[in-house]
Amino acid sequence: MAAKHKTSLWHLLCRAGVSYRQGSCYSSRYVAVPKVLQGQGQSSRVPRRDTHTLRPDVGASYRELYDTSVQDPDTFWGSIARDRLLWSKAFTQVQNCDITQGRISWFLGGQLNVSENCLDLHARRNADRVALIWERDEPGTELNITYGELLETTCRLANTLKRYGVQKGDRVAIYMPVSPMAVAAMLACARIGAVHTVVFAGFSAEALSGRIQDAQCKAVITCNQGVRGGRVIELKKTVDVAVKTCPTVRQVFVAQRTDTRVPMGRLDVQLEEEMAKESPECKPVPLDSEDMLFMLYTSGSTGKPKGIVHTQAGYLLYAALTHQYVFNYQQGDVFGCVADIGWVTGHSYVVYGPLCNGATTVLFESTPIYPDPGRYWETVQRLRINQFYGAPTAIRLLLKYGEDWVNKYDRSSLKTLGSVGEPINHEAWEWFYNVVGEGKCPLVDTWWQTETGGICISPRPSEEGAEILPAMAMRPFFGVQPALMDEEGNTLAGNDVNGALCLSQPWPGMARTIYGDHQRFVDAYFKPYPGHYFTGDGAYRSKEGYYQITGRMDDVINISGHRLGTAEIEDALDEHPDVPETAVVGIPHDLKGEAAFAFVVLKDNVSLSHSNIHKELKALVSSKIAKYAVPDDFLIVKRLPKTRSGKIMRRVLRKIAMDQTGDLGDVTTLDDPSVITEIVDVYNQYKSLSPKS
Ligand code: WT7
Repeated sequence: MAAKHKTSLWHLLCRAGVSYRQGSCYSSRYVAVPKVLQGQGQSSRVPRRDTHTLRPDVGASYRELYDTSVQDPDTFWGSIARDRLLWSKAFTQVQNCDITQGRISWFLGGQLNVSENCLDLHARRNADRVALIWERDEPGTELNITYGELLETTCRLANTLKRYGVQKGDRVAIYMPVSPMAVAAMLACARIGAVHTVVFAGFSAEALSGRIQDAQCKAVITCNQGVRGGRVIELKKTVDVAVKTCPTVRQVFVAQRTDTRVPMGRLDVQLEEEMAKESPECKPVPLDSEDMLFMLYTSGSTGKPKGIVHTQAGYLLYAALTHQYVFNYQQGDVFGCVADIGWVTGHSYVVYGPLCNGATTVLFESTPIYPDPGRYWETVQRLRINQFYGAPTAIRLLLKYGEDWVNKYDRSSLKTLGSVGEPINHEAWEWFYNVVGEGKCPLVDTWWQTETGGICISPRPSEEGAEILPAMAMRPFFGVQPALMDEEGNTLAGNDVNGALCLSQPWPGMARTIYGDHQRFVDAYFKPYPGHYFTGDGAYRSKEGYYQITGRMDDVINISGHRLGTAEIEDALDEHPDVPETAVVGIPHDLKGEAAFAFVVLKDNVSLSHSNIHKELKALVSSKIAKYAVPDDFLIVKRLPKTRSGKIMRRVLRKIAMDQTGDLGDVTTLDDPSVITEIVDVYNQYKSLSPKS
């Protein structure tokens, strides 16, 4: 039975185009599949009013493959991992997971090198194939970097790191703009077994140093300056401040993004100069499947960001497979994910997924409105982008500028559109689909998280005849088994139900731990619903059995697709000497998706006319976290609504901040309900003074 199953799965996967590393299946992906998928399949898409049918794929049906992936994950993932990845040593066990303990291991006994899979493998076949198109801030100044060039840059950088004493297992912080050097830095770490932690270049010095300290980084890689939207960003200056409080940092490697010379100190090393001295070759170190590849800090419901850990083989495989299947990526396509490499989307769909698949991937350094709101579509036209993957917040912004900015440019290269990071509202979905894609390109709303490593729920355009409903993530990816839970922790059966979204089975891309705090990992994700991974999101399973994400169930908010704990903002505000207490809530916002609204209590002796308080609070958040984290509104109140046990009732504050004071819900557990009238009065006064109302 097992053998028969294996054979048939092998064929199913081959026919579906999954296989390409070895032998006979190679041609099925490069020859047979593309023929059907390019061109003539297009006419069979039947756009209905709100249901968009995809062209049929060849090969096994999604159902067949999906069923195998969840019923027999060892066969499914074992077979794909052997086939898709280049191993230095074959694995002996597909998985050894016990999610009640938060223990997740895949491909045990196996060894491989991620940078070899992402670079050498493709450079060996064709060193001149373009790996990266660096779409620099100034339109029309893009640079192509081939696999051969990226490999050489990565090797030189890896050799430099080694010469300065960076070893396997050491952590390296990367604080850089979206650039080939940043990608090379990530891959150089991967090549020598160092662990990178990319910190979004918009984070403040304090946020950067907190992450460097937590990860105990030995080195930092940065640039003299960044350039974004025509403005210069002083990255090196920020790093200088950050590393003052980071005793573990031995070197700061500084690459040159601009011609400006910045002051170099005791720790600083000019990166390009050192790289020029190095050999263009560096042997990739074979690493165990479960060695750490990177960590990436993300927000939870406490004030302290968590260092989410991903490991080698499982992460890479999952990023590559989802990249191919969700976007229907075909060899030769130009893949355009406009996310920053500082977020997980940039890791999985700018760098690791596309490069593992030998794709040409775009590095977008600019903003959606620089120099004008046509930037994305002008870039699509100039680079002939085939898959465009972006965030709803940008789409909402652009649709306000009108269709002319889109129609001006030729978008005929586009085949798939993708959305990520936050719920996409219907208006934005329809505009993206109809205006940008002219109703011709499937638009996939992809749900996932830093913790999941890759896309978990998405309509999947490569699925045979699949319908896509607007603004819905719809179907689980291979190996992902969603479950919805009720308040008592029971699994909800049937359709047309709402609950806490859990994933009931381990998959190779899932996070392995929180750096330095495995207990927090277990408590946050595996304790709430024993035997399941809890996502923190709520979801609805429709009558048809499709999933729709309804939003976070914890105190995490999503500002312009950037995840933030309200507790982080509160901690920053609480540092003000005149502020004993604050409560921050997220409220809906037209462009940002959500915005932070802060309720602030001042010390008794501080007069309200103290005019600088708002300014000071804004500056605090901006310096402790980042500019995007600064609340839009501050309401100075005498006290906060608390339950008898002392818990702040944020639910009520949220209603007030949303101007829904008529329906505050159950407030019987409040210690003193009169606080509500007090706050509502202040709110009404604030509203009447505010220019927005
Ligand atoms: C949180 C994860 C996924 C990579 C970028 C963000 C929200 C993400 C969707 C979507 C509705 C979404 C969830 C999730 N989210 N994608 N398609 N529909 N919500 O990664 O920073 O780890 O944030 O973003 O709330 O839990 P992240």
